[in-house]
Amino acid sequence: MIHSTSAEGRPVVAILTTSHPVKQFRGNRRNFRDLIRAGGELGCLVYVVTVRDLRLEETDIIGYVPGPGRRNWNTEIMPLPQVVYNRIPSREQESKPAVLRKIGELLEHPSIRLFNPRFFNKWDLFEWLKGSRATARHVPETRKLRSAATLKALLKNHSSLYLKPEAGKAGKGIMRLKYVPDHPLPYRLQVQSGQRHLTYKAASMERLWNRISRERGQERYIVQQAIDLSSYRGRPFDLRVLVQKNGRGVWGVTGIGARLAGARSITTHVPRGGSIEEPGKLLDNVFGAEKSAAILRSVPAAALLIARQIERASASALGEMSMDLGVDREGGLWFFEANSRPMKFDEPPIRRLSLERIIQYSRHLAGHPIEARR
Ligand SMILES: Nc1ncnc2c1ncn2[C@@H]1O[C@H](COP(=O)(O)OP(=O)(O)O)[C@@H](O)[C@H]1O
Ligand SMILES: [Mg+2]
Repeated sequence: MIHSTSAEGRPVVAILTTSHPVKQFRGNRRNFRDLIRAGGELGCLVYVVTVRDLRLEETDIIGYVPGPGRRNWNTEIMPLPQVVYNRIPSREQESKPAVLRKIGELLEHPSIRLFNPRFFNKWDLFEWLKGSRATARHVPETRKLRSAATLKALLKNHSSLYLKPEAGKAGKGIMRLKYVPDHPLPYRLQVQSGQRHLTYKAASMERLWNRISRERGQERYIVQQAIDLSSYRGRPFDLRVLVQKNGRGVWGVTGIGARLAGARSITTHVPRGGSIEEPGKLLDNVFGAEKSAAILRSVPAAALLIARQIERASASALGEMSMDLGVDREGGLWFFEANSRPMKFDEPPIRRLSLERIIQYSRHLAGHPIEARR
């Protein structure tokens, strides 16, 4: 017999993911477990549901909640949710017709509120942020990578460029191009794929372009000005900012972390040798205490402007995003990307608050707000 749970007046929140042939469902189970626990503490019924099981024409559906063991998940009959927290784990899953159809139905549904409907595309983000003067100043010069002519044009203004897949994540497929004038092999292309790091040197733009075309295959890319990032002990770093709505439905900064690049890496991702750091420590080291504090104080305002502009320009209902911001050697802030499915922040205070925020915002959407804790 399958156990049945009733809402008993509590707001009901479903974490949406896709099914898995062996493991019941996809996605980060630790994350889901933490969120379900936080929901319970804040008076919500939270469960995991798959696209397949979220039957909008029913009143009771199948959901998953953690079982007694550390790894078990129980199947239970659950009431239909008021709020859907979208954690479809990948672009590949999201692009499946059944998933797109369900997201569409949820967006149209008269009584269910879904937020963060889609993954962001990198090109869209830069277009959106160029659309407002307040955010355009934080955006590196960016083009769609279509031909060698694009590279030539950008190399007139910048000696170093980043090439990034529009649908990229975790540093996959990122390349860095440097132009070294007065050298027989002036073009230097650093490629990062898997655990592989290699540098390709080319004598001509034509050869370089052949190589880039081979590396990127069918993927769509953007190319942008490389920002001369501040570095700590010779390693560049950037800031990871988590921006979420609170129990009043208003954007706020939940936390700011820093990621320091691994040796020889062209990105700061932890799986590529990067490390988690205290932003203040890195900034103090580069700028001294006073300037460092001023830079850190400037981050929330910039991040909130960016989040609001993304929400406005994307014309979608958003509840959270993480963003990567670079700090140049003068202390200026640069936007690199935003993610609508933020990864878990490992810094414990940020982690704790991030879970509360999702629940508080969900309560707000469900019409059961509780006063947001500061
Ligand atoms: N224009 C740039 N200038 C300097 N560094 C960059 C630039 N774009 C990306 N990076 C570095 O590469 C990292 C990954 O880039 P990002 O756009 O976040 O791609 P991903 O989606 O793979 O995380 C950034 O966190 C930053 O360290
Ligand atoms: Mg990133």
